[in-house]
Amino acid sequence: MKIFVDSANFVELEEALKRGFPAGITTNPAIMAKEKKGSFDRHIRKIIDLIKAYGYDVPLSIEVFTKDPQEMIRQARAFLRNFGDYSNLYIKVPIGWDELKIIHELRRTGVKVNCTCCMSVNQALMAAAAGANFVSLFWGRIQDVGYNAFEVVQKTAGVFHRSGVASELVVGSIRHIVDINEAFEAGADIVTVPPRFFKAFCSHPKTDESVDQFVREFQAWLEPEPKRPARPAAAGKGGRRRT
Ligand code: E4P
Repeated sequence: MKIFVDSANFVELEEALKRGFPAGITTNPAIMAKEKKGSFDRHIRKIIDLIKAYGYDVPLSIEVFTKDPQEMIRQARAFLRNFGDYSNLYIKVPIGWDELKIIHELRRTGVKVNCTCCMSVNQALMAAAAGANFVSLFWGRIQDVGYNAFEVVQKTAGVFHRSGVASELVVGSIRHIVDINEAFEAGADIVTVPPRFFKAFCSHPKTDESVDQFVREFQAWLEPEPKRPARPAAAGKGGRRRT
């Protein structure tokens, strides 16, 4: 069970890295496009620096941003030239007939690949067969067109595990907190989660209620005992005698 952070935002990444749980980071061109305009290379370099600054060495997936296979391989090579010093770099390549050639070519030369945008069992199987290290199924987008994402992930995970496939199954396109639980229950090795879900994912109203009660009762116990009103002196004992 591994949780990845699906973001390219420095603040979101830092907040997650500070908390120790991220086992990886995934980006894609649309995620990148949410960030302040600037140099792609500098942005990715800053993410790598952040990962290292917090003492991690986790997979970082960056995706090619073209539909042209020749350009894909050119971009993949540029990523490797620019960021190949980070040994946990994964090149994200979408699934497709021409794209399988890119995946095969990259894997042949020892480059780690995350085959992305898979929506079906068959696509995931082809990605794994071509040697992708990560195979990413898109939960929310599968459901968008009326398919059952739980079943797709469960069936893919079943085949992977029964056939001893080396690829790890990543589930992305998370839209609701419950998608995370269900993706793991369906057999995902990894779920990549948009940071907006993390806080709620580790919260529960009964936890807040319990902690409030514990602190309240202990604070009350720490309070000094209220002073008892002084007893009136007993008549006859040390009191004045009546004459
Ligand atoms: C996964 O690697 C993708 O970055 C991501 O989860 C895409 O999902 P979405 O665009 O449907 O949110």
